[in-house]
Amino acid sequence: MDNIVILDCGSQFTQLIARRVRELKVHSEILPWDVSLGEIESRKPCGIIISGGPMSVSDEDAPSVPEGLFSLGVPVLGVCYGMQLITRMRGGRVTSGKAREYGRTEISVSGKSPLFEGIPSFFEVWMSHADHIEELAPGFTPLAETSGGVPAAMEDAEKGIWGLQFHPEVVHTRFGTEILSNFLFRVCSCSPDWDLGDWVESMTEEIRRKVGEERVICGLSGGVDSSVAAVLTARAIGDRLDCLFVNNGLLRLNEAEEVLEQYKKLNLRVHYVDASEQFLSALSGVTDPERKRKIIGETFIRVFEKAAASFQDAGWLLQGTLYPDIIESGFKGKNASVIKSHHNVGGLPEDMKLNLLEPLRDLFKDEVRRTGRLLGLPEEILSRQPFPGPGLAVRCLGEITPERLETLRKADWIFREEIAAWENYPEIWQAFAVLLPVKTVGVMGDCRTYSEVAALRAVESHDGMTADWVRVPYDILDRTARRICNEVPGINRVALDVTSKPPSTIEWE
Ligand code: XMP
Repeated sequence: MDNIVILDCGSQFTQLIARRVRELKVHSEILPWDVSLGEIESRKPCGIIISGGPMSVSDEDAPSVPEGLFSLGVPVLGVCYGMQLITRMRGGRVTSGKAREYGRTEISVSGKSPLFEGIPSFFEVWMSHADHIEELAPGFTPLAETSGGVPAAMEDAEKGIWGLQFHPEVVHTRFGTEILSNFLFRVCSCSPDWDLGDWVESMTEEIRRKVGEERVICGLSGGVDSSVAAVLTARAIGDRLDCLFVNNGLLRLNEAEEVLEQYKKLNLRVHYVDASEQFLSALSGVTDPERKRKIIGETFIRVFEKAAASFQDAGWLLQGTLYPDIIESGFKGKNASVIKSHHNVGGLPEDMKLNLLEPLRDLFKDEVRRTGRLLGLPEEILSRQPFPGPGLAVRCLGEITPERLETLRKADWIFREEIAAWENYPEIWQAFAVLLPVKTVGVMGDCRTYSEVAALRAVESHDGMTADWVRVPYDILDRTARRICNEVPGINRVALDVTSKPPSTIEWE
């Protein structure tokens, strides 16, 4: 299988490059910029892409790539920062400042190159750079320039090195996919042989080989990743897979029953662990969001450990870890500040003495969904909106009591029921209700009420990192608000959250 190595210099778009390459049916993997040349060679790349990055090539600790990269006999493409880095490393000149370009701009292509084969000579691209190339390195010819006269593309065809100042991976760049496709197929002569159907077959074999005659346990959350991982593993080793579904008492209305029913149809052996009381008593009296998250994470570990102990002959723990998780934990976010402590089913103790089985660790989320489809998982599971590990605890602001959870469940159910009927519902990332620990005065019949407030939150997002609030039609909001006040004791007012992320986060805690 042909492989493209992407060296990550810190751009927010690096993962997007990897996905675009895979969409063109060529396997791609991301490595940190400071990886050794030997490591790169061991991946047998048929092409190398150096990503963009937030720094300036002249910064003291700016990312760089091994010098020997250009002598491997493998084509290299530098994108944005990557093009500037190449220029500097090969003896050209990069200057800071004056020609900043962010966002849309137009470029004109002058030179003839396989990179621009079949592409018009004038089109719109997406730029994001403060530095620019003052003088190309010896051996390079310009292929395109921006309307501001800045080099937008270059090549040294003899040495097999190309550069693009703009981002071909973002949708705002017209013909971006065509340019990447030209790099893969005309420059690198890759074969479009990355096929998820083949991947499923070879991963099934690999799971069989790895696990041998041993047993595997896994924690199912009802979400896409753990479900696809479990079905794939069951396909490989049949009934030697035992799944645990932990009810932490923080699930939505009827959720445990529905999820268990769905798993039954998938022929998975699922053991239901009702730990609601344990979670709720650990959370009793706690109002601080971070403490709630910590308690839930720790309790989950204890519950899972105890339940897993009854499968003494298990040798493996299956987890639905995805490629972005590996990249993030491997070499990104070193200086990132903790906004929220995320606790997923994955946060299990290291001393469990089980081998880790992570069959999805090479896949992106959209590839996991497609794999799920290939494996015959029902659309209800594949298109489920994300639901946070700490569940309703982070939507029930203030103290968590069984009564307040019940109130929230009912309000949340009504909102989701009303909005699910909307034609734009499939495009919504998440829609849910939040219960606020704020009492307001109302009037019902002829009586005064003094009850809590429900807030409605519906957002659209691609990855949960940024989000915008959804403009839900007034009549849906109106019906929802009236129903909540009429049908849910304990709520007499409904508010709508109209903030994006940033500055807010999607969940309220
Ligand atoms: P925030 O609230 O940080 O959420 O904007 C971004 C996305 O992550 C989900 N989320 C979580 N998912 N464990 C999870 O598995 C967690 O602890 C957690 N906290 C937030 C949230 O629902 C949204 O989709």
